[in-house]
Amino acid sequence: MITHRLGAVLFVLLHILGVTWSQPYPNYHVDFEDILKRNEGPKWWQTGAFYQIYPRSFKDSNGDGVGDLNGIADQLPYLKELGITATWLSPIFTSPMADFGYDIANFTEIASIFGTMSDFENLMKVAKKLDIKIILDFVPNHSSDECEWFRRSAAKDPDYKDFYVWHPGRIVNGVRQPPSNWISVFRGSAWEWHEGRKEYYLHQFVKKQPDLNYRNPKVREAMNNVLRFWLAKGVSGFRIDAVPHVFEIAPDAQGQYRDEPRNDWDNDPEDYGYLKHIYTVDQPETIDLVYSWRAVLDAFVYENGGEERILMAETYSPIDIVMKYYGNGTAEGAQLPFNFLLISELSNSSNAHNYEDTVMKWLQHMPEGRTANWVLGNHDKPRVGSRLGRDRVDMLNMLTSTLPGASVTYQGEELGMTDVWISWKDTVDPSACNTNPNIYEQFTRDPERTPFQWSCAQDAGFSNASKTWLPIALDYKQVNVEQERQRPLSHLNIFKQLWQLRNQSKTLQLGNTKVKAVSDAVLAVMRYYQEDSTLVTVLNIYDGVETINLQQSFPGLPAQFKVLVVTERSIAKVGDVVNSSSLQLQPKDSLILQSTSSYYSYATNGEVRLLPVLGVYLFLAQVVLYVSNR
Ligand code: GLC
Repeated sequence: MITHRLGAVLFVLLHILGVTWSQPYPNYHVDFEDILKRNEGPKWWQTGAFYQIYPRSFKDSNGDGVGDLNGIADQLPYLKELGITATWLSPIFTSPMADFGYDIANFTEIASIFGTMSDFENLMKVAKKLDIKIILDFVPNHSSDECEWFRRSAAKDPDYKDFYVWHPGRIVNGVRQPPSNWISVFRGSAWEWHEGRKEYYLHQFVKKQPDLNYRNPKVREAMNNVLRFWLAKGVSGFRIDAVPHVFEIAPDAQGQYRDEPRNDWDNDPEDYGYLKHIYTVDQPETIDLVYSWRAVLDAFVYENGGEERILMAETYSPIDIVMKYYGNGTAEGAQLPFNFLLISELSNSSNAHNYEDTVMKWLQHMPEGRTANWVLGNHDKPRVGSRLGRDRVDMLNMLTSTLPGASVTYQGEELGMTDVWISWKDTVDPSACNTNPNIYEQFTRDPERTPFQWSCAQDAGFSNASKTWLPIALDYKQVNVEQERQRPLSHLNIFKQLWQLRNQSKTLQLGNTKVKAVSDAVLAVMRYYQEDSTLVTVLNIYDGVETINLQQSFPGLPAQFKVLVVTERSIAKVGDVVNSSSLQLQPKDSLILQSTSSYYSYATNGEVRLLPVLGVYLFLAQVVLYVSNR
């Protein structure tokens, strides 16, 4: 009897020890344990569903063939229907539209093509009522050449003389030439001669986008004031455009800019890829500049109260540099430096291991305590269905909505909109127009910018103009909101289910994460959180039927799962009970599974906890002893 009791006590002790000694999986995002101890939820942006609106193409309310602010305000309930937390808008400011709004003539004025300041204020009101946050595009690298600042700078007005990067050029064999060999992202020399000032100015993008000079403190203050202006209008933050380009190297002691070295793989001297951009991109000063913008936002919150305002930074830089934008030990940076890895590292032929590596690359590089984010597409990149496969749209939305952190959806990706082929004649994107009919398709961004498809009506319900600014997709009668609302397993309805689940599930919002290629074809993401049920997302990336054993990849995983989300490709139905040691997936199938018990209490670091198991053995041995001694 005594030995039995001893055994039981020993078992309990060992179990407690086992639990205490066991290390949970690394929590690949914010220190949520800490948040919970303080009894706070995560901040609004930390698990947010972000949605990018490209205003020219979202909804046209006045029939001119171009989308506008009233169109967005009318359709905000649609974003609510999707479960969106916040929307970031591509530029809506006064602009000659040489780069469709990324060439800003007045940073604090609304472009008349999009509406008026009072339309903007109305949009803010509607958004507030619906509890959708508005984020604006902040374009710091350049203005338009039609900006008052540039005009004054060109005229050498003492207050604006050094607002831009000017240089008299270098004289070679008696001939004046651009100051350096730098090339514009949109082809050709990055220097343009200005007849008025008789100097060259720098433009890293088109020549109508002169680069601002951030070595001038007046420029930094002017741009801080732009941030303050829109913060006072009630916006929740900014997406920062073209961050890596903001600073370029300072001129040397002789006042000269250094040439950039060549890339051997590119033989087209006009092409941006011809040079290694060591002096015009990713200069160390840029990181501190982003920190200083964050300080402007934090000071605004300090003085005016309200929820945290955020920065989302656009950078395709190497991962070590991207991570610096989060902040360092002493300064905070952008809450969400965009994670473009799903865009830049995956292709149509990627396998599950490539997917695992891509997801893990961000999670493993991310500094402790930061929040991950997942971007599938934007107005600069081919649409996800065209890039990674039309039949992978649902699985990719499933992936981004079940990974930890925030995720960003580009308008139309929730419908499975794909790129629209646009002839050279109809091409309007400067990045393509600066090339020629033979190569423009490699550079054009028009195909992913075509009007949003609302319905089967004229112009896909986007407009009632006789001609829209870009053509409407041919498939608009099948791929549109109205049609997809009616099909239970349309891309749209799956997207809605995903965000409903995400917005309700503690496991998805707060849980730990494990990502594994179960085979070449199948990727699995496990999310688990304390004693809550565990969720597993499985994607069959390939075209064969796959049978997988999830327990092999995640030792200790509960045996039985309930099917929570399916797609049109699944045989499994919602509510089916499946066995995690033998799960069948159809070609390009993807599922979200929910366990009936929790994973957290079973396993740690991929090993079944040893000490509790030893305890069970000891206890059982005591029972046997006790029974045999009776
Ligand atoms: C960013 C924008 C792009 C624009 C460029 C220049 O990359 O996303 O659309 O052309 O900056 O502003």
